[in-house]
Amino acid sequence: MRRDDDDMLEGVSSRLITPVFIGRRAQLASLEAAYAAVRHGEPATVLLGGEAGVGKSRLAAEFAGRVRAQGGRVLIGGCLELGADGLPFAPFTAVIRDLVRHDGAAAVIGLLGGRAGEIGRLLPDLARAEPEPAQTAGSAADTYPGEGRGRLFEQMLTLFEQLSAGGPVVLVVEDLHWADHSTRDLLSFLVSNQRVLPGALIIGTFRSDELHRTHPLRPLLAELARLAWVERAELPRLTRRETAELLASSLGREVEPERLDSVFARSEGNPLFAEELLCCGDELPDSLRDLVLGRVQRLPPATQDVLRIAGAAGDCAGYALLSAVSGLSDGDLESALRPAVAANVLVASPDGYAFRHALIREAMYEDLLPGERSRVHAGFAKAITADESLAAGRPSIQLAHHWYAAHDLAQALAAAWKAAAEANRVFAYAEQLSMLSRVLELWDEVPDAAQRVGTSHDQLLEKAARVAHLLGEQERTRAFISAALREIDPAADPGRAALLLEIRGRSSPDPEDGIADLHNALALVTGDDQQRERAVVLATLALRLCKTPAVACARPAAEQALQLAEAAGDAATQASALSTLAMLGPDGRPSDLDVELEMLARARAAAAQAGDYHLMLRTAINESHVLEGAGQHERAAQVARDGIAEAARYGLARTQGTFLAINLAEPLYSLGRWEESVEVIERALDLSAPTATRASLFQLAGLIALARGQADAACRAADTAARLRTGERYQAQHHLPTATLQIELLIAQRRYREALDAALELIRRYDLQASPRYAWPVMVAAARAAAEAAGAPAAARAESPAEAVAELLAALATEAAKLGAEGPDRRAHQLTYAAEVLRARRPEAPEGRAGPAGEAAAWEQAAAAWEAVGEPYPLAAALFRSAEAALASGSDKDEAGRKLRRAAEIAAGLGAHPLGEMAAQLARRARIPMGEARAGASPATGGLTTRELDVLALVAARDEQRADRQRAVHLAEEASVYVSNIMSKLGVASRGEAAAAARDRGLLDMT
Ligand SMILES: Nc1ncnc2c1ncn2[C@@H]1O[C@H](COP(=O)(O)OP(=O)(O)OP(=O)(O)O)[C@@H](O)[C@H]1O
Ligand SMILES: [Mg+2]
Repeated sequence: MRRDDDDMLEGVSSRLITPVFIGRRAQLASLEAAYAAVRHGEPATVLLGGEAGVGKSRLAAEFAGRVRAQGGRVLIGGCLELGADGLPFAPFTAVIRDLVRHDGAAAVIGLLGGRAGEIGRLLPDLARAEPEPAQTAGSAADTYPGEGRGRLFEQMLTLFEQLSAGGPVVLVVEDLHWADHSTRDLLSFLVSNQRVLPGALIIGTFRSDELHRTHPLRPLLAELARLAWVERAELPRLTRRETAELLASSLGREVEPERLDSVFARSEGNPLFAEELLCCGDELPDSLRDLVLGRVQRLPPATQDVLRIAGAAGDCAGYALLSAVSGLSDGDLESALRPAVAANVLVASPDGYAFRHALIREAMYEDLLPGERSRVHAGFAKAITADESLAAGRPSIQLAHHWYAAHDLAQALAAAWKAAAEANRVFAYAEQLSMLSRVLELWDEVPDAAQRVGTSHDQLLEKAARVAHLLGEQERTRAFISAALREIDPAADPGRAALLLEIRGRSSPDPEDGIADLHNALALVTGDDQQRERAVVLATLALRLCKTPAVACARPAAEQALQLAEAAGDAATQASALSTLAMLGPDGRPSDLDVELEMLARARAAAAQAGDYHLMLRTAINESHVLEGAGQHERAAQVARDGIAEAARYGLARTQGTFLAINLAEPLYSLGRWEESVEVIERALDLSAPTATRASLFQLAGLIALARGQADAACRAADTAARLRTGERYQAQHHLPTATLQIELLIAQRRYREALDAALELIRRYDLQASPRYAWPVMVAAARAAAEAAGAPAAARAESPAEAVAELLAALATEAAKLGAEGPDRRAHQLTYAAEVLRARRPEAPEGRAGPAGEAAAWEQAAAAWEAVGEPYPLAAALFRSAEAALASGSDKDEAGRKLRRAAEIAAGLGAHPLGEMAAQLARRARIPMGEARAGASPATGGLTTRELDVLALVAARDEQRADRQRAVHLAEEASVYVSNIMSKLGVASRGEAAAAARDRGLLDMT
């Protein structure tokens, strides 16, 4: 509350009409339950909907009182109804302002680690209170705008995290139906990240009756409802009995039955209506608006005048501002307001005066005649212009609102322009765009528009295009650019026209259209002084070409971009070109990991030099991608992990960070660290990753669930992945893994015919040759489908006839003959594929021909290859198949037994139950004792598995034969998965110690 209000309100009661809180026991109980959950460290959010006046705020206030009584902290911020001019982040600004008011700026800055940071942009007072004001405060947000906004979000998270670390906190965001775009984004971010906010309960309220079909809150509610800890509740109207209670409590006595009947009939249990009806005595007007006005009409005329003015101020008006606009002296204003407070029309709030209910404000505002309305808005605008401190929030945005509503177009235009700049400063790009659109809208009405805002129409269009691009609003981006291009003479300013075409080319949904724009742009920038622009266009062209059949043209474009960018000293474009080149691999030679990594390191350095975090993270993404492709799972995981930490630092945890989560979860899956992989996936999904990213995450989760025998979970994940991919343009790295998973699922469900058909359809539809990395897993899954179908019991075989199997195998053979298999990972897939093909052919192998024996050998080779790249799951599967084929060929049972035991043991370690079960069944059938396998993990071995013992033997060997460097290097790559396990099991800190301990305990003799 502003200081002067305190004195003024002395002696005036501002009690609510109904002092007693009625009913709502179930709702309170569920809020209490959510509060109990957060106190146990679990996330919880309650989204409370209900019609206007039904009692959402009252319920929240009642609950807040209970929390405070239990020693918890409650922070409340409300969204403001300013229509399209919504004050960005309004409720959060209010919450921080309250915090500063109660705890002091120093304490809040302390929570933020000593810096007001980007939050200082929302609350300049906070920035000014910094011990040493930051250099960057107030700097243009334009440079790398996404990052600043991301940082703001992360800092808000930090703030609530720190607050809740000191005790339970309840954050109430009221009236979300009026939330501005930025507030919705931030709320979604906080709720999605609630796992890191133990002890913080988030409550959002909104009018559910205002959510029309295209209301922007709808998608947010739907998105949040997917999170397990988000509960959505709808507050019902009061029952007849509760309404009676409400009336009795208001009147201080029982209400007569006829009165109750009439009030209940008209209010239908809506407490606000009921209260209003009660005030109106016997006259019962039809609409609520009339009800409200009826009550106000009994107030003195001077009070009514001020109320109408206050109604135009928006949600809340400061005392000084009202005084300035009404032209009343302090004393006169005080006497004018007193009856409104007494009649419960206004309540004093910390920031000035607020209407007790927004409906009352709406009614007051609508009661202004149109001419009066403009006059009052102009009054507000003039008062704020004269003294900006009168506007509690950011003055320029309020000015834009009032001048526009006052129909002063010239002022409105200038104010919107300033408000756009202000919105940009707080990273509120959506609001910036809406203000820029307002400037565009008013442009033709204001004769000297260009002078007023100091920019030309085409520059304005260009700015709007860039902001829209930043927001990811591709369609609007292209519309603004097209409009700007119509006004720009490319001959006069070819560089600028080319850069605009570049953005349009980058944001076009159709690669061909995009590429056409980029070619047109290139034709514009041929001069010696346009080489930098040329470089920018070429770099984007290369990037887009990568995703088209004309991928061969990408390399020359990227190379030329690189060369020109180097000459022009444009580090960002160098980074982009290098990054693309690295992904294309060395020219004309087989892919060479070292060369690719070297290029990426250069890309990274250039991106760092340019200070472009997006590009830096793009190189991290590419680096982990190529490492994983080369079978270097450990290194891939490390790069991705570091990248995720970096993304979080730049406030890009949700976008780039979750993309990197795919690149971390994937190597973890390969390494058999499924628990960790699932954790990474879940965390990224919690962050509401973008659609395409979520699809990949679900696909990986499905793979793990399938291997673990969780068929339902696997199906759900696969369905979700496929659904999220609907409508997405084909990309090998997206579609092939999703399709692979679907084939594997069909096999697991013994739907062989469908698996065969799906595989065949996939091979016919997509160009597998273009992407061996993602094609090989498809080949393996398809061959497996053939093998399973061929080996199925006769009944099942009837549905998947030999012809279908043969047809698929023939198609596969054609592909396999051409498909490159560079690097250990692809090689391992290729060997597995070959073994699966032999397995598929086994039933038709003529008697006497050594089919199974050859197959057993093929599987053995595959196993060795998987062992070399350190992928335990396919290794175990290959061992199992090898044993199976060996037993079928009637060869040595001991050898098969050893393989089976090892397969079972690895499967048990991974939790790969179906594979473990198959191994156990085969062992039973072949009367192979499996008990011994368990001994591998017995206490005598220090809990080490057979495989770990193998590795340990090698470690020891290396220890003894230091000269054998080659072997040691190879070993280091291969065994690192196991070594850390070994060290922790043996309780030692180094490989040397592990070897020594193993020798001491005699473990090495056991292998
Ligand atoms: N359970 C209750 N007990 C007593 N009074 C109540 C109760 N619920 C609501 N009221 C009264 O009804 C009126 C409207 O309630 P409130 O302002 O909480 O509605 P709301 O749902 O927040 O409306 P809006 O959507 O407009 O924000 C208030 O005066 C409030 O005190
Ligand atoms: Mg409310």
